[in-house]
Amino acid sequence: MDAFEYRGKTLFCEDVKIEDIIGDVGTPTYIYSKNAILARYSELKTAFSDVDTLICFSVKSNSNLSICRCLAQEGSGFDVVSGGELFRAINAGGSPSKIVFAGVGKTDKEIKYALENNVFMFNVESISELEHISRLAGGLDKRAHVALRINPDIDAKTHIKTTTGKKENKFGIDFSTAEKIIRKSSKYSNVSLSGLHVHLGSPIYTVDPYVHALKKVLVFIERCRSTGVDIEYVNVGGGYCISYTGEKVIRSEAYAIKMLPIIKEMQCKLILEPGRYIMGNSGILVTNVIYRKETVHGKKFIICDAAMNDLIRPALYDAFHRIWPVNTNIKLPAVENPKRSVIKKGMELVDIVGPVCESSDVFAFGRALPKLKEGDLLAIFSAGAYGFTMSSSYNSRPRACEVLVDGKKYCIIRKRETYEDLIRGEEFTKC
Ligand code: LLP
Repeated sequence: MDAFEYRGKTLFCEDVKIEDIIGDVGTPTYIYSKNAILARYSELKTAFSDVDTLICFSVKSNSNLSICRCLAQEGSGFDVVSGGELFRAINAGGSPSKIVFAGVGKTDKEIKYALENNVFMFNVESISELEHISRLAGGLDKRAHVALRINPDIDAKTHIKTTTGKKENKFGIDFSTAEKIIRKSSKYSNVSLSGLHVHLGSPIYTVDPYVHALKKVLVFIERCRSTGVDIEYVNVGGGYCISYTGEKVIRSEAYAIKMLPIIKEMQCKLILEPGRYIMGNSGILVTNVIYRKETVHGKKFIICDAAMNDLIRPALYDAFHRIWPVNTNIKLPAVENPKRSVIKKGMELVDIVGPVCESSDVFAFGRALPKLKEGDLLAIFSAGAYGFTMSSSYNSRPRACEVLVDGKKYCIIRKRETYEDLIRGEEFTKC
């Protein structure tokens, strides 16, 4: 959370006071630090610089055009999973020659769109998809570059809803099916099979699952080469972790130290698809306390103007996000224990909830926070990845505003939605 720090009693993003931004744009608002984004990108790039590495920022983590543009300007490629994400990446200035297209269910329309734009590579997840790509590429008189996404049946020890590399998951192709594809690769005349892709899940807090997967992939690459199919690229996907609690977690160098020797042995070029690593701690969500409510049973609710429609991670994955007042005399603890909140003088145990009509609309249960009153601002930390992109207008709530800070300056990079935006495209029935 380096880009977001308390100076005296108030929270800053880089050199801008959060309360100044909010005074200008209101709440709820996502605020991102441009320099934190660029620092994380370059940290990863440096850590893996021993081999030829292309970083493809995972657009699903944060697809805002300005953010994608900042990364494109640094030379980043993009990992997209839909025609819409491809449209965004291109519009942000991303070079199609650095775009990889993943996802289990690419439609013919999306495949054609990607072929017409000459994307770098398709990460293919089934034989049927490979057949579609080959046929559509033939129709356009093109040759598609393809990486087979392998499902290595490895438990990345992450949340059950974000695990992707186990045999029961819908993602990827098992090794024996991949081998059949490799043996018959000449059948796919408009496809050039030049890569292998593996993404195990997200977030992954140790390097071991990556090493385990890479070792399996290395054996497979040798088999591919023995049948005359050269594998030029290995794509290790994303999943690199961030700290949500303040606790130290591993960083890019730790991943690189253990992964690079295997990549070198493979003699492959490397592709990485980080999302959260770059964006997670580069953004916060700021919300305003609307009401306090206390029950006779002793429960205290802090009702704020952000809700599960703005940030769904706590409701969907029981995810822990640190929450702290923007202005406070009490210091944000260096590390928090998600299972046990520690109360100090001037603090109380509260549930932080939103206005949506669902009992799951809770950002924090039984959290120790400085005593809050109506009108106080709260920062929800580590919200830069899978925050806005997973937001919706459920309960017909206009989606939040997004702001990017750069040093002493800030800009709105997505306007707050209006009621008019909510009904755009709807028509009264004519039948
Ligand atoms: N590559 C592929 C093929 C992916 O499926 C994903 C994420 C990534 C890269 C980027 O993963 P990252 O580096 O950001 O961990 N909504 C969940 C996370 C879902 C991740 C989906 N795939 C969350 O809020 O935690």
